[in-house]
Amino acid sequence: MTVLASALNTADPEYREHREAMLAKLAALDTEHAKALAGGGEKYVERHRGRGKLLARERVELLLDPDTPFLELSPLAAWGSDYTVGASLVTGIGVVEGVECLITANDPTVRGGASNPWSLRKALRANDIALANRLPVISLVESGGADLPSQKEIFIPGGAVFRDLTRLSAAGIPTIAVVFGNSTAGGAYVPGMSDHTIMVRERAKVFLGGPPLVKMATGEESDDESLGGAEMHARVSGLADHFAVDERDALRQARRVVARLNHRKAHADPGPAVPPKYDEDELLGIVPGDLRTPFDPREVVARIVDASDFDEFKPLYGTSLTTGWATLHGYPVGILANARGVLFSEESQKAAQFIQLANQRDIPLLFLHNTTGYMVGKEYEQGGIIKHGAMMINAVSNSRVPHLSVLMGASYGAGHYGMCGRAYDPRFLFAWPSAKSAVMGPQQLAGVLSIVARQSAAAKGRPYDDEADAALRAMVERQIESESLPMFLSGRLYDDGVIDPRDTRTVLGLCLSAIHTAPYEGARGGFGVFRM
Ligand code: COA
Repeated sequence: MTVLASALNTADPEYREHREAMLAKLAALDTEHAKALAGGGEKYVERHRGRGKLLARERVELLLDPDTPFLELSPLAAWGSDYTVGASLVTGIGVVEGVECLITANDPTVRGGASNPWSLRKALRANDIALANRLPVISLVESGGADLPSQKEIFIPGGAVFRDLTRLSAAGIPTIAVVFGNSTAGGAYVPGMSDHTIMVRERAKVFLGGPPLVKMATGEESDDESLGGAEMHARVSGLADHFAVDERDALRQARRVVARLNHRKAHADPGPAVPPKYDEDELLGIVPGDLRTPFDPREVVARIVDASDFDEFKPLYGTSLTTGWATLHGYPVGILANARGVLFSEESQKAAQFIQLANQRDIPLLFLHNTTGYMVGKEYEQGGIIKHGAMMINAVSNSRVPHLSVLMGASYGAGHYGMCGRAYDPRFLFAWPSAKSAVMGPQQLAGVLSIVARQSAAAKGRPYDDEADAALRAMVERQIESESLPMFLSGRLYDDGVIDPRDTRTVLGLCLSAIHTAPYEGARGGFGVFRM
């Protein structure tokens, strides 16, 4: 039998404690997600509705097939910055006429839907996802263009948005723009670079320069409609392929366009998705509030994979990394999960071997993070921990099967890299509210800084102020702690979202389905030199 046994006892006070801690973090997360949903706030939402317009998420909802899920991405973008949480843009994956699409929608209630540096990062991340997974892109456009006060951050890199649209098209990935309002200046190149365009009567404004700018530039008198209205673009310029009488008609027409795309998934539907044997709700009580306490990741695996069925690979070797095979919503996956925090040489070599096997067999990999990094110390350095960690990082970097990463707990140091952190291009990366990620733990980092300062003072023959040191350590600890938290990292687009642990299986299932839209083949060779 390869069905995992569980030692989790829901009556145990520890389980309850972990669960309470997780629920408190989820409540805090809900508060932040609510900010994204609130957009520009009541005043601007009412004004928008008063103009007879639908909100960004209502547009998305009407576009999607009824009762199908929408996997929203980067909802906390801009968290911790001066900009509104969500970054005036909604992005995500949803099903339109049976086709999984990458959908973006400007939120016109936030500064006229203008793009700030975080909106730009979020849009570019969405484009990357569309390209990697061959998902048609539907842009629901109503935007004041560049956020003018922050233009220096976005004007030059922002050109990539339009570049991406035409590169997607060149790769045979359909792009559709539905214009509900302002889409001027650079914004005009969203419909301009899309394969299919739909514009809403008396609402769409698609021009390089509006009437005041034209007046300034050439002296010509003009108006919005003649410069860039839907009627003009549908009848005269030809930029609009479809003329919609209102917003709902535009969304209906967008669905018809998708229905005729003949966009096919590269992979056949997966096998049956047998639910796990254990309750997903119990995922709330596994991760300890204090990440220094280890937990068995098999308890997590047992609650996310089909039938809790897991064939472990090398279970007796390198035991602080659990590796093995399973299916998730019918899709085969190889799982690497940190068991006791630290990665030693054995774990690193086991990981490198396992990643190569997954590539030989064309099996996607799922990385479940809870690592404090690679082991330090004389014994380990002499044992070649750098070489062995390098093998693992080589394998992850040059692996060509799709990767998924979930940060459950700690994800520190080069361990974050070896476990396919953001810079290693996992197709999707999500964090639990319990996750923390940084170069090292806050206490360790503050301690290292203090030792370095003390040594530096000694070298200069200066006395060391212990009181000031304690205050500095406390300050650094607080700073690093706050910068390690998932909301902070999500705000900076270092993940694709912070998720409720109970949703992990569903989220990964949606990602695996999206991933299987594109063909993939594991690396048969092509790894760098494995330093032995
Ligand atoms: N950058 C920064 N802030 C912007 C902005 C932009 N591009 N566009 C709008 N805003 C702000 C407005 O200043 C206003 O702020 P306030 O309410 O604090 O005063 C808020 O967003 C709402 O704008 P408002 O003009 O009241 O909304 P609207 O729905 O009536 O009109 C636009 C929206 C986008 C049509 C209009 O604001 C506009 O034309 N903006 C400039 C467009 C432009 O030329 N952009 C440069 C393109 S590269």
